[in-house]
Amino acid sequence: MLLIIPMIFLIGSLSLTTWVYQRALDPLYGGVPTHLYLNPVIWAGSILGGLGPAPPGWSTLLFVGSWVVLLPNTAYWAAVYTSRLDDATIGPIATHVLVLFPTIYFGVSLMKRMVLSFVGGAAIATWAVSVPLRSPSNTAESDSRIRFSWRLLVPAIVISVLPTVLPALAPPLLPHPLLAPYTRPNFPLRILSSTQSVTGIVVVGESLLPEDWQPGTPEPHPLYIRYLRASHSLLGGVWYGRKAVTKSKGPPSLDSTGTPIGDSIYSVFVLQEAIRLVDTTDRAIKNGEENALIIGLGAGIAATALNKHGIHPTIVEIDPAVYNASRQYFGLPEPGPGKLFLEDARKTVRLKRRAVDEEPSKGERYDYVIHDCFSGGGVPAHLFSVEFWDDLKAIMNVDGVVAVAYYLNSNPAKAILSTLKYSFGRCRVFHDAPDVREDPHGFINMVFFCSPAAKPLTFRSAQSPDFLDSHQREQVLSNFAQREIHPSLIHGETDERNVEKWILRDGSNKLNEWQQSGALEHWKIMRKVLPAPFWETY
Ligand SMILES: *[C@@H]1O[C@H](CO)[C@@H](O)[C@H](O)[C@H]1NC(C)=O
Repeated sequence: MLLIIPMIFLIGSLSLTTWVYQRALDPLYGGVPTHLYLNPVIWAGSILGGLGPAPPGWSTLLFVGSWVVLLPNTAYWAAVYTSRLDDATIGPIATHVLVLFPTIYFGVSLMKRMVLSFVGGAAIATWAVSVPLRSPSNTAESDSRIRFSWRLLVPAIVISVLPTVLPALAPPLLPHPLLAPYTRPNFPLRILSSTQSVTGIVVVGESLLPEDWQPGTPEPHPLYIRYLRASHSLLGGVWYGRKAVTKSKGPPSLDSTGTPIGDSIYSVFVLQEAIRLVDTTDRAIKNGEENALIIGLGAGIAATALNKHGIHPTIVEIDPAVYNASRQYFGLPEPGPGKLFLEDARKTVRLKRRAVDEEPSKGERYDYVIHDCFSGGGVPAHLFSVEFWDDLKAIMNVDGVVAVAYYLNSNPAKAILSTLKYSFGRCRVFHDAPDVREDPHGFINMVFFCSPAAKPLTFRSAQSPDFLDSHQREQVLSNFAQREIHPSLIHGETDERNVEKWILRDGSNKLNEWQQSGALEHWKIMRKVLPAPFWETY
């Protein structure tokens, strides 16, 4: 028993350590890069720890103990420095080897030592049991061991409490939830809120004006942006303060605290608004009475714009912290009674479908659905399967349209478009880049517009009221027709025999696998969009 209990304790603490470690790395590396080589490193640590020489028991125990206590800090600092290598593969591996490997290696060595001592007779166990019973003057050997362990215990305790005593050593992690805005010393960055939530750490931050910056000189990083971040992914952002300007030079929108907020920093959300440009002349959609559904809220840019057009969408968002952030810092209006679902969209859509199936006359049907679930370099595969689209179709107007956001990324984009075509029938694809031909390999956002109706999907041209007094909307929507991408550019020449391979289904959904390399690329792009201190403060 005396051996089993510490062993269970040790195994438990090693799993807990791995969990704490992953959690510490997630905001800096994101899910996919963190996990890609995590298991091989854990295995290497376990196997080498098992095969290597058995280290001295007490000193190893103390080493593992203090290493575990320090782990959130060492993980943070190792990730901060390795992430500056700008490589989403080497960086996490180096961090695993520096921080996690020693913990696992020595933890497993310690377990081996316990087992060996058990198998090799009761010698050490007897010793361990008898230590407290014996007077210090017994054998010379145990006496020296005890003194040895005390010599280690003192530095171990000192190391463990150092980060608390010396704030300079502690990672600049903020309390979660953050109770008051935090301004980073020596860097023009303010964190407005930071919450540990269901999709990772959710942060709202702002870039401030650097003290030494002269107007007219190039900006060191985008100034006056307010961003919403979940783990290592930007969910959205707006220009605020001095950069919140309108087309008419009239007063800008305000957030819940009265700060002026302007255009989105990304144009893809504006592209989603083009769902309103669907030609409804021969569709059963009544202008002014459209019923809309938003799946994946982000900073609420599209939802807020629909509201300004008099369409009050139903919102589905898995993360309550993301919803709170949009309401508080990005000007999202109250969704209204029965129009907010903070849960997995699969559940919302399934329950709504059930309601429609039970009482077809009463169930709600949507004319417009905006689906944007991009986070952490990828999308949740279960919101892209045939089964999900079937449920969604059942709660849509037969003439309705769904706008699905993704980006130009070979296999996943091909699978998503093939599945949408299979489920809906008609799709057209548009992009938000200034010019796709200039940078065909860059990060190009796309929106797939699809409809279950058999009639062709056409769009009217945008008029002044569609722009909502915004330069960006004018830029993106006034040349909407030229933003079309021919589907063959995404799924290549369709080989009819091969189509089934690209259809995403619940049982055989390869989307996550296909998205891995894209997630590594996405991490690198994110590091270029904002400088390191933005990513390191949360
Ligand atoms: C969101 O805001 C509500 C109301 O202010 C609060 O009760 C809730 O805890 C917040 N949720 C998160 C995840 O921050």
